[in-house]
Amino acid sequence: MLLTIAQALSWAREQLSSHNVSDDGLHDCAAIDSKILLAASLQREVIYLHTWPEKRLDKLQTEIFKHYMSQRILGHPVAYIIGFRDFWTLRLNVSAATLIPRPETELIVEISLSLDLAKCAKVLDLGTGSGAIALALASEKPNWLITGLDKIAEAVILAKDNATIHKLERVNFIQSDWFSAVEHQQFNLIVTNPPYIEDNNRYLLQGDVRFEPSSALTSGSDGLDDIRLIVSQSKHYLAADGWLVIEHGYQQSDPIRDILTAHGFIQIRNEYDLNGFPRVSLGKVEK
Ligand SMILES: C[S@@+](CC[C@H](N)C(=O)[O-])C[C@H]1O[C@@H](n2cnc3c(N)ncnc32)[C@H](O)[C@@H]1O
Repeated sequence: MLLTIAQALSWAREQLSSHNVSDDGLHDCAAIDSKILLAASLQREVIYLHTWPEKRLDKLQTEIFKHYMSQRILGHPVAYIIGFRDFWTLRLNVSAATLIPRPETELIVEISLSLDLAKCAKVLDLGTGSGAIALALASEKPNWLITGLDKIAEAVILAKDNATIHKLERVNFIQSDWFSAVEHQQFNLIVTNPPYIEDNNRYLLQGDVRFEPSSALTSGSDGLDDIRLIVSQSKHYLAADGWLVIEHGYQQSDPIRDILTAHGFIQIRNEYDLNGFPRVSLGKVEK
């Protein structure tokens, strides 16, 4: 017999709880994941599930939902299963070529928007992935001239697709190994959420990150190889008074302050996530 929405949700929640795949120890993730997967199977928003709990799924919807559930039980991230993730105000397509955008990365967007920049500021997003940061900034600042780059070709294609979906094609996406393909120019703002996890971190063996590419996650034995490179090169691409804004791990702010200081950055400060951890460092280069 075909299940109602309420029955399907309670079945899914029980399945995910008993398989321990949706557990961050803080939230009822089994319930949240069940709702997102069911809503996607019905091609509706989650609110629809609350409005129509007695509605029965049809055969096709049931098949899709069961397929999504079997993927989730194997541990696949919800965003990869349904193909998208909401970030800032945008629904972004995602793929296994790059990181699934995280809510904490919205802090970079908030900080960037709060900086005192020119109306037509030139902005560079290093390691753009799905285009999350570049596109969120473009959606808020129609006059900013924004470039996003990534070394993974599939990520660049994904970012361009997301730009098209949101009619933000004016954002320029290029394939580049950090600055290698960037024409020499001066940016008012360089933002980056680079790989910053230590190569052997045990966190890489747990949960969703097992399915994300190491090219988006790891950066040497202390996780700082890419950040060292980015800081050392950024200073040549920043305009006077230009800012470099970096997302990093919650224990990396001290070494990053040292790296920024060693490369002549000034006005260095940290910004904190909702849990009170320093997750973003920023500074200006002295020119
Ligand atoms: C942590 S992910 C961030 C993705 C996206 N900015 C976000 O916040 O969701 C890091 C990104 O940096 C890219 N990346 C890694 N090494 C790179 C390099 N040498 N040059 C350019 N991009 C690189 C990865 O492919 C990945 O998309």
